Amino acid sequence: MNIAIISSSTRPGRTSHRAALALKKAIETSGNTVNFIDLKVLELPLFGERFAFLTESERTENMIKIAEMLQQSKAIIFVTPEYNGSISSGLKNLLDTFGKAEFAGKPIGVATASTGILGGIRAAQQLQVNILGVGAYPQPQMLTVGEVDKQMDTEGEVLNTAFESKLNGFVSSFLGFAAKF
Ligand SMILES: Cc1cc2nc3c(=O)[nH]c(=O)nc-3n(C[C@H](O)[C@H](O)[C@H](O)COP(=O)(O)O)c2cc1C
Repeated sequence: MNIAIISSSTRPGRTSHRAALALKKAIETSGNTVNFIDLKVLELPLFGERFAFLTESERTENMIKIAEMLQQSKAIIFVTPEYNGSISSGLKNLLDTFGKAEFAGKPIGVATASTGILGGIRAAQQLQVNILGVGAYPQPQMLTVGEVDKQMDTEGEVLNTAFESKLNGFVSSFLGFAAKF
């Protein structure tokens, strides 16, 4: 199965990106393929109009690339830091820009991260509602990564066994959930 992973922090020195890289490794190890969508690299303009309503000439190269990668993927994992009790503005921008063709009917996993101990639980709960808003299905089990900077290095290598088992538990639950669709 092809799974899109969205890494949605665009900050220099971002730490939630580590969780996105660790998830990519774990999904690839499970024998599935990943379309890795890094919003710091594939920058989107601030939301103006939905992709479906833009003319060919109004669509940016990155929008077209992201739309293709999302359409190819049977399932998606959103990775977001918690900012002010919510998801990153980059991820909200993505959710508003794309729509039914890219998201509707798909299983979507939620992974949040923070340098605090709660791991972005408020962002995670809101993201489940946002996923319903785009007509997709949020996985009930979420991955909340507290003290994210201590759990993985900058390449997404897991630094402790307790976190490794939490990560693998989430991935196996996500793959089981996605296989039902
Ligand atoms: C604008 C902003 C708001 C933040 N708000 C929260 C918050 O509400 N809860 C929390 O646990 N951490 C919060 N943090 C800290 C982040 O958890 C921390 O920056 C973490 O490294 C994840 O974000 P990153 O991927 O951009 O590094 C905030 C950070 C920023 C930059």
